[in-house]
Amino acid sequence: MKKLQGAGLRGQSAGQTSLSTVEQEGSLRYLGYSIEDLAKNASFEEVAYLLLIGQLPKKQELEEFEKELASLRVMPNSLITVLESIPAEAHPMEVVRTIISYMGVIESEKSFDEQLDVTKRLLGVTTTAIVYWYKYTHEGVRIEQTSNELSVAAHFLKLLRQQEINDLHKKTLDVSLTLYAEHEFNASTFTGRVCASTLSDLHSCLTAAVGSLRGPLHGGANEEAMKMLEEINSLENVKEFIDHKLDNKEKIMGFGHAVYSVKDPRSDIIKEYSAKLSEDHKDKLLHDAAVIMEAYLKEKKGLFPNTDFFHAPAYHYLGIPTKLFTPLFAIARIIGWSAHTYEQRDNNRIIRPSADYIGPEDRDWVDIESR
Ligand SMILES: CC(C)(COP(=O)(O)OP(=O)(O)OC[C@H]1O[C@@H](n2cnc3c(N)ncnc32)[C@H](O)[C@@H]1OP(=O)(O)O)[C@@H](O)C(=O)NCCC(=O)NCCS
Repeated sequence: MKKLQGAGLRGQSAGQTSLSTVEQEGSLRYLGYSIEDLAKNASFEEVAYLLLIGQLPKKQELEEFEKELASLRVMPNSLITVLESIPAEAHPMEVVRTIISYMGVIESEKSFDEQLDVTKRLLGVTTTAIVYWYKYTHEGVRIEQTSNELSVAAHFLKLLRQQEINDLHKKTLDVSLTLYAEHEFNASTFTGRVCASTLSDLHSCLTAAVGSLRGPLHGGANEEAMKMLEEINSLENVKEFIDHKLDNKEKIMGFGHAVYSVKDPRSDIIKEYSAKLSEDHKDKLLHDAAVIMEAYLKEKKGLFPNTDFFHAPAYHYLGIPTKLFTPLFAIARIIGWSAHTYEQRDNNRIIRPSADYIGPEDRDWVDIESR
């Protein structure tokens, strides 16, 4: 089929933002700070504060913010009932969508003045709820909802693994959440902003965004990359495996990007953590195969990995089930989606573009008997 002209609105500006810059050559900044600096020096909570409040927190502000976030993790009882009635076979992004949507029913946003409180609550509850659902439906256990861990990353891992988490594992997930927190006018954020432009409530904007993130061409790519890497059983087979996929015109999940044309700056950051974690892991092959794949696709098709690709081995080494990969992306992106909703609300005009009509010419009406 012929590609539609201007398909995907590629390269067109669809509005303004002060939250982040995504540059084709491979640069990403949140409010002017490079993703490299943020991943190295800031915690996810610090990044969340930056995106939601608009500036880096002072020490005491960060401590108060972290404590407040940690105090908002316990679920309302009726949400537990909802989660326990969702089958194990449900797609985990359907579960995330339900969690956020249901929170909008029982703790709805009464006025836009409550928007920051809603975001904090959703970050806390969604993190607990997705692990609770997973453990209940897949392992038959009702976990405690508290963890004594201050950071979102450590809380998630502790609930999931029910054991002490080492610093490298905490830091890896923390960095990952920073990398996933915000990315300008990507599909899910734009979806959320369109919803926000109708002056809808924050839960609706985030529920809409989750729906967009679910697709394999967006957030679902980390899961798909993992499934692909798991099919490889020997490093010798990697090139043949890729050739086969390319010959069949299949997309290689976790590669390519709609804006970046040379590299995705987030990839090297998470790749470094994947490499560290692989060192003493029994499934080291996953990372090594991923490295070969990266080099081969560069050489053969000029393709580069996006942030999702090395997230697959990294998350696997953290003991995170593949099903929970995209929900983690969503948890981090609650911050970006919320910040964009606030920005849209601050200077709103309903988003309503036009379309270029390519259908039939004007026609005369034909009665049903005469057709
Ligand atoms: C991200 C993505 C949707 C960007 O799409 P896009 O901007 O529309 O880019 P296109 O699909 O037009 O790609 C341009 C060319 O590169 C090829 N290409 C892009 N990504 C590819 C991939 N992952 N595997 C194989 N070929 C790919 C396309 O087939 C196309 O080739 P063609 O011109 O011969 O048709 C696309 O690269 C993709 O589907 N990647 C896999 C899914 C993924 O990892 N998504 C996460 C994004 S963060």
